[in-house]
Amino acid sequence: MSLRATTTETLSTAEWQELDRRHHVHPFIDSRAIEEKGTRVIVGAEGSHLIDSDGRRILDGMAGLWCVNLGYGRHELAQAAYDQMVELPYYNTFFRSAPPPTIELSRILAELTPGDLGHAFFSSSGSEANDTIVRLVRRYWDVRDRPTKKTFISRTYAYHGSTMAAASLGGFEAMHAVGDLPLPGFEHVMPPYWFAMGGPDETPEDTAERAARALEDKILELGPENVAAFIGEPVIGAGGVIVPPDDYWPEVQRICREHDVLLVCDEVITGFGRTGAWFGAQTFDIEPDLMTIAKGLSSGYAPISAVLMTDAVFETLSAGGVIPHGYTYSGHPVSAAVAIENLRLMKEEGLVERVRDETGPLLQERLRTLADHPLVGEVRGVGLLGALELVEDKATRKHFEPMGRVAPIAHEHCYDEGVVLRAMRDVLCTSPPLSIEPHEIDELVERTARGLDRTAAELGLG
Ligand SMILES: Cc1ncc(COP(=O)(O)O)c(C=O)c1O
Repeated sequence: MSLRATTTETLSTAEWQELDRRHHVHPFIDSRAIEEKGTRVIVGAEGSHLIDSDGRRILDGMAGLWCVNLGYGRHELAQAAYDQMVELPYYNTFFRSAPPPTIELSRILAELTPGDLGHAFFSSSGSEANDTIVRLVRRYWDVRDRPTKKTFISRTYAYHGSTMAAASLGGFEAMHAVGDLPLPGFEHVMPPYWFAMGGPDETPEDTAERAARALEDKILELGPENVAAFIGEPVIGAGGVIVPPDDYWPEVQRICREHDVLLVCDEVITGFGRTGAWFGAQTFDIEPDLMTIAKGLSSGYAPISAVLMTDAVFETLSAGGVIPHGYTYSGHPVSAAVAIENLRLMKEEGLVERVRDETGPLLQERLRTLADHPLVGEVRGVGLLGALELVEDKATRKHFEPMGRVAPIAHEHCYDEGVVLRAMRDVLCTSPPLSIEPHEIDELVERTARGLDRTAAELGLG
C-alpha cells in the first residue's frame, strides 16, 4: 500500500468520489446524497473562487464555512505557518509554559476586543471554546459561592457547535435528537425571528421585544439563583442569518445585568469584520462578560478558537485555584502565528472598514434586488452576511411544505450556476470572503438570481 499523498493528477473525479464514498465519514453525514450524487472534490482556491477536480471555478459565497475572511491563496499566512513550524512547531501551554506567538496573540485580542475582555483561553474549534465556557462559567459561580447558578439559557435556531455541551447550547431539535440532548441544565427561548415567529400584526420590533421578554420570563421561571448565563450569537448565523432589531440586545443585556446572569456572545461567525465592525458586539452595542471567537481569527487557515473573558471573570476564576481544563492544542504556536498575521493583514488592508463602507452596503443593496423574485419572501442581512427566505406565499410568509425542501434545490441550482450558498431550512444564506471584490458581489447576486429562476422552473412556478 502506498502512503504517498495521491494528487489530482493521478485520480479522476470519479475515482476520488469512489474512495470518499467507501472510506470517508463526513460531518453532518448525509450518506445517501453522497451515494447518489457523489462528493464535490475541491482541489484548490484563489481569492473568492474555489476550483473543483474538473477545473471549474466556483464563487465561494460562504467563505468556506463562514471563515475564510481574507480569501484564498494568501501566501503571507502560509509563510507565517512555515516560519513558526521551523522555529517551534509545537509546545504546550500547560505547566507554566507558553510559546511567544500565543502570548502575543492574547495581547492583541485584549486590545482589539471591546470592553475589558482582557484574557484569552485558546482551543482549536468553536465547539471546544463553547464547552470551555460551560465549565468556566459554572466554576465562576462556584467560586462566588453561588453553586446553584448552573443553568445556561440560549435560543432556538442558535448554533454553538457539535460537542455534547455545545449542541446542548444550540437550539436545533435535529441535533438534540442525536446523543439524547440537551444535557440537563440547558434551556432555550425564542430568538427575535420575525419572519417565522412574528404574529400577523407584529412588527420585527414587537417580535424582538417578545423574544427579550421570553428570556426574562425564563429566568424568573427557573429562578435567577439557578441561572448561570445567557449565550447568543449577535446575529444567528447557521440558524438562518437572523438579524435582530437594534433594541433587542440592549434589552437582553439589561435583563442579564438585572438578574445577575452572565452574558456570553458567541462571535464565531460575527467576529473579525463580518458585520462591518471588528465584532458583532460593537454593531449591536453589547458588552459581554465572555466571548467565543474562532473561524475568522485565522481566516480558517489554521484551527484556532478562544474564550475571551473580562478581568472580573478572570480574577474570580483565578481566586478559585487550579482549573483542571485544557487541550493539547490550547494556544498552538502555528495557529497563533497564522492568526497574528491574519489580523495584521486585515488591519493593513482596512478590510473591516471596507466591509462597513463599501462591500457590506453593496451586498445588502444588491441582494435586495432579489426581493421581487417570486420565491423570495424576505431579504435580510448585515455587513457581509445575507439571507433569502424562500416562500410559497409572500403576503402571508407561508413556506413551502415540507419545510426544508426548496432551499436545498435552490442551493444545487446556484452551485450549477457557479456560486456556493448555504441552505438552512428554507433559507439561503451567504457569507462571502471579506476580501470579495465589488464585481464579484454582482456575480454572486446574478448567479443566485439564475439559480432561483431554475428553482422556480423546477417547482413549476416559472
Ligand atoms: C456561532 C457558532 N458557534 C460555534 C460554532 C462551532 O464551531 P466549530 O465548528 O469550529 O466547532 C459555529 C460553527 O459554525 C458557529 O457558527
